[in-house]
Amino acid sequence: MNNTIVIGASGQIGSELTLELRNRFGNDSVFASDIKDAAHDVMESGPFIKLDVTDSAKLTEIITKNKIKNVYLLAAMLSGSAEKNPGKAWDLNMKSLLLTLDLAKEKVIDKVFWPSSIAVFGPTTPKKNTPQLTIMEPSTVYGISKQAGERWCEYYFNKYSVDVRSVRYPGLISYKTEAGGGTTDYAVEIFYEAIKAGKYECFLSENTLLPMMFMPDAIRGTIDMMESDPAKIKIRSSYNMSGISFNPGELAQAIRKHIPDFTITYKPDFRQQIAESWPGSINDDDARLDWGWKHEYDLASMTDIMLGAIRKKLS
Ligand code: SER
Repeated sequence: MNNTIVIGASGQIGSELTLELRNRFGNDSVFASDIKDAAHDVMESGPFIKLDVTDSAKLTEIITKNKIKNVYLLAAMLSGSAEKNPGKAWDLNMKSLLLTLDLAKEKVIDKVFWPSSIAVFGPTTPKKNTPQLTIMEPSTVYGISKQAGERWCEYYFNKYSVDVRSVRYPGLISYKTEAGGGTTDYAVEIFYEAIKAGKYECFLSENTLLPMMFMPDAIRGTIDMMESDPAKIKIRSSYNMSGISFNPGELAQAIRKHIPDFTITYKPDFRQQIAESWPGSINDDDARLDWGWKHEYDLASMTDIMLGAIRKKLS
């Protein structure tokens, strides 16, 4: 038996990742867990366990009892929320990772996926086509925790041969579970408001360019990387991973092709400064070369699917 657990299965990524992993590897072998209940289909299609990931004893018990060998650790506090709760964010984001890496070091588990983020970059990072190796001086609590996490991942790989794999996700756009607490969340909210109200007040300014990705690409890329031959995973901190780059003005324009009367206004809040510290576009040649990463969706195809799916969901 080679069971898998998704920790953070109620979240934006976790809810979709759990279902796709179950689809591929069987419902009973993919455990979902979160501190709060997950979506109905996640809770119904396979095992679900309530878990506070910082509870070391409970985490170890669940993993050993259920013969879990692969861990997808998605529980984290995102950039916007973390700025409001720095201590709690650091505690959750770091403690969960170190506990999991220790389980791998002790050979209780075989493989760990842990997401990093474009938030590892900061105001001094080159903004265009940001390289894999570059200046990294993150200015947010979330970014600092992700950068430290990357260093820990590489350290555990080098020192203890822990098979840990990671990507730096850009802003993720999806319709199944709404994002929460992130700076890139406007690109999800905008679709709901476009359909519900025909207008949206954006918390970032019109020209704020950010790297983004449609969730199906992110899920496929994540599982592909985890299923790759370990020799292909040459970077053990975290891989740059890119999809599409756009700003709120361009996204509004893409929505207007379907909803011509849609209007957008701009009222930047504290998240504007966070967004301005991040790159506009990412160079992900290493991921493409090492394990064959390739994104599929562009702005137009993503917008088309998002509007269709949210319309259906709301009706
Ligand atoms: N989407 C995340 C955020 O905005 C970035 O990793 O916090």
